[in-house]
Amino acid sequence: MRNYPRSAAILERNRRFIPGGVVSVNRAVTPEIVFVRGEGAWIWDAEGNRYLDYHAAFAPHLLGHNDPYVNEAVRRTLEAGASLFGSGTTELEGRLAELICRHIDFVDSVQLLNTGSEATAEAIRLARAATGRDHIIVMQGGYNGWHNDVACNLMTPLEALGPRRSPGEYPFVPISAGIPRAHQELVHPVNFNDLDSVTWVAERYPVACLITEPILQNIGVVHPLPGYLAGLRELADRYGFLLVFDEVKTGFRHALGGYAAIAGVRPDLVVYGKAVANGYPIAILGGRRELMDYFVHPDPARRVLLAGTYNAHPVPVAAAIATIERLLEGDGEIYRRLESLGRSIEDGLNERIAGLGVPAVVARQGSAFCLYFMDHRPVDWHDLAANHDFRLDEALRRELIEQGIYVFPLATKQWSISAAHTPADIEATVEAVGGVLERQRGSGSVGAAGRRVEGKD
Ligand SMILES: Cc1ncc(COP(=O)(O)O)c(C=O)c1O
Repeated sequence: MRNYPRSAAILERNRRFIPGGVVSVNRAVTPEIVFVRGEGAWIWDAEGNRYLDYHAAFAPHLLGHNDPYVNEAVRRTLEAGASLFGSGTTELEGRLAELICRHIDFVDSVQLLNTGSEATAEAIRLARAATGRDHIIVMQGGYNGWHNDVACNLMTPLEALGPRRSPGEYPFVPISAGIPRAHQELVHPVNFNDLDSVTWVAERYPVACLITEPILQNIGVVHPLPGYLAGLRELADRYGFLLVFDEVKTGFRHALGGYAAIAGVRPDLVVYGKAVANGYPIAILGGRRELMDYFVHPDPARRVLLAGTYNAHPVPVAAAIATIERLLEGDGEIYRRLESLGRSIEDGLNERIAGLGVPAVVARQGSAFCLYFMDHRPVDWHDLAANHDFRLDEALRRELIEQGIYVFPLATKQWSISAAHTPADIEATVEAVGGVLERQRGSGSVGAAGRRVEGKD
């Protein structure tokens, strides 16, 4: 077992000033490793160990850590004297907004915020303002941020959910203390891939919006079944609620327009974050003009407040423009490369799994994938929680970390490939995973009963 004495010392010191020693409690995992450097597909810890990174800081690093083109754009912007002015517009924010609207056909205009959570909060507020309704539908197994509307029903233990409910809704199971009960009553969690439950809720409550990741990527990679997203579109139109796609994880990673562009389903509002600026903090809320215009509604009583001291800070805006420029290069050459790397790892893992006879499946979209220890790809959280071997998943992750491959040590968390990974990296990863599974099988651990855990990005 590796030891991390320098990491331990830093953590110990930080505990005196930060609750638990780590900012953002979801980052507090074991092994307790302090990372100090990132470049391309690699990260280094305080001891000097190097890791091939598939965590990518919960997925923003699509081009790899510290992409030179993006960093150079940031450096040039600062050297040109850009600062945060907080009064009026800037040419830079207009350039980013135009780039996005030009390349995503269902986005007429955008707002720029700092984090995905801020953007989903604003999307929901806007939906409530535009529809005059208060209730919202969220997905069991989805994550849309830390605020009161959506901090619920992620990796909910099945004991708290009870049996599968369809058609129907699950109880609001908060993932944070402090969410007022009155607020919880406005939020209706349903299973992903279950249109009947959406209908069930929409017939009983005045629903302002349904917010969902188009692929559930906070519990690995759970795809929509054929017709599901189009079905949501139809129900939104039939019942008059807005369809909000939370593409914080899927957006820009799978395509510029996110998974909506791939699926050909147009949301009313969309939220992007993470990969937009390859690791710099920015989020985007966009959609149809008549909805977005609520932010400047002539009637102050109907106007939606969107504010933020740091909104459109020139550093992340410059980073986002540069990231998009990179993604547009060579008519999407980077996406082709990511798909090819993703395909290789999927094929390689499938070959090893078949050779070992391990009950496992790979679920993948482009550069995002997850290895599930069950006999089919999950369709929703209920399916996953009942069938996946969480213990084996975590054991695999811990062993890989020991070997210098960093995957977040929490079962079902997405693996993210970056454009800086190479075919040789992928080959080495397949070998390493195969080796761990072979040992686990030898020790009789494969197929052992699963364990369910709470977790979020
Ligand atoms: C799909 C999704 N939506 C929203 C968020 C919240 O974004 P942020 O952490 O930037 O507030 C996340 C974060 O992991 C996410 O994965």
